[in-house]
Amino acid sequence: MSAALPTSSREWHLVARPHGWPEAEDFALREAAVTAPAEGRILVRNKHFSVDPYMRGRMNDVKSYTPPFKLDHPMDGGAVGEVIASNAEGFAVGDHVLHGLGWREIADMPAKHAVKVDPDVAPLSAYLGVLGMTGLTAYAGLFDVASFKEGDAVFVSGAAGAVGSQVGQMAKIKGASRVIGSAGSDEKVKLLTEEYGFDAAFNYKNGPVRDQLKEAAPDGIDVYFDNVGGDHLEAAISSFNLHGRATICGMIAQYNATEPTPGPSNMALIIGKRLRLQGMLVGDHTDLQPQFVRDVAGWLASGELKYQETEVRGIEQGYEAFMGLLRGENTGKMIVSLD
Ligand SMILES: NC(=O)c1ccc[n+]([C@@H]2O[C@H](COP(=O)([O-])OP(=O)(O)OC[C@H]3O[C@@H](n4cnc5c(N)ncnc54)[C@H](OP(=O)(O)O)[C@@H]3O)[C@@H](O)[C@H]2O)c1
Repeated sequence: MSAALPTSSREWHLVARPHGWPEAEDFALREAAVTAPAEGRILVRNKHFSVDPYMRGRMNDVKSYTPPFKLDHPMDGGAVGEVIASNAEGFAVGDHVLHGLGWREIADMPAKHAVKVDPDVAPLSAYLGVLGMTGLTAYAGLFDVASFKEGDAVFVSGAAGAVGSQVGQMAKIKGASRVIGSAGSDEKVKLLTEEYGFDAAFNYKNGPVRDQLKEAAPDGIDVYFDNVGGDHLEAAISSFNLHGRATICGMIAQYNATEPTPGPSNMALIIGKRLRLQGMLVGDHTDLQPQFVRDVAGWLASGELKYQETEVRGIEQGYEAFMGLLRGENTGKMIVSLD
């Protein structure tokens, strides 16, 4: 056990349920007492925590695949940090761990909920992104859910984000005939083609997605990796070749909607083109974890796979970092780093 433990920790609470876009008043940064860990538990000083689009859904009081955040309780989510006190076998002060109690400075948890990670193998923040949840989402969603095969033409939306940027590059590595990405700024579009090797990319704010996709993929697409929904999904259905496959991973365009959003107007094309649109949850694909880590570590080492992170510093910035993610201020994984 460590001698000098901090006596308090700041943590973000949801204090009101947002209607539409979240507002600062919906959140509060509060102080909580820190005590020595009970039997079987560890205290972790978080170094980075993740803000993710799915957290917006958890702010609503609706039944979903993850339970809603409780009002006036600390929010949670992926985090990495250093053990500062241990009352659990197998965990020592100084160990680095990945766990699910983000949005706070100090996490007190059963050691069995923490996974040790090695900061010498990869920077700690990478375990939240390229080597973590968003990386596995890209890998499983492309290779397993979409049944990607060599020669496929692939379209990915949210292409400069954490998941999307990995999807496009993985498809190129595995022999896609053409990879097209959409993103929300000309700067991001440039990054996709000039850094990440996409064959074509467009800014969805510059014109109708359907027209821009048709131009970028004149021979059609075989796989669509959907992070956005709405007009992007409709455009993909329109550009699909026969037997096209879509991984429905996210629909961020509607996460802050206050009214039901209309579905694609061209669903009948699903019949004639014999399309397959399949939803995914990354948690269903943990069996791929060893293969995913092996492949991605190799591609990172060879330089075939690149990644970026947008780092926001300071626990006080947690709310702003989350809002920045929803507004598209991130390139690659959005991370909050604590000193
Ligand atoms: N199913 C699963 O298991 C699973 C797991 C992880 C993530 N996801 C989903 O995958 C998607 C990407 O997640 P991520 O963690 O990689 O986040 P991200 O793409 O790194 O960040 C979110 C991005 O969404 C874009 N965006 C925001 N509003 C938009 C809109 N109205 N239309 C189009 N793009 C918009 C922004 O980029 P622009 O500047 O390009 O607009 C923003 O940077 C999300 O939908 C998320 O919910 C699903």
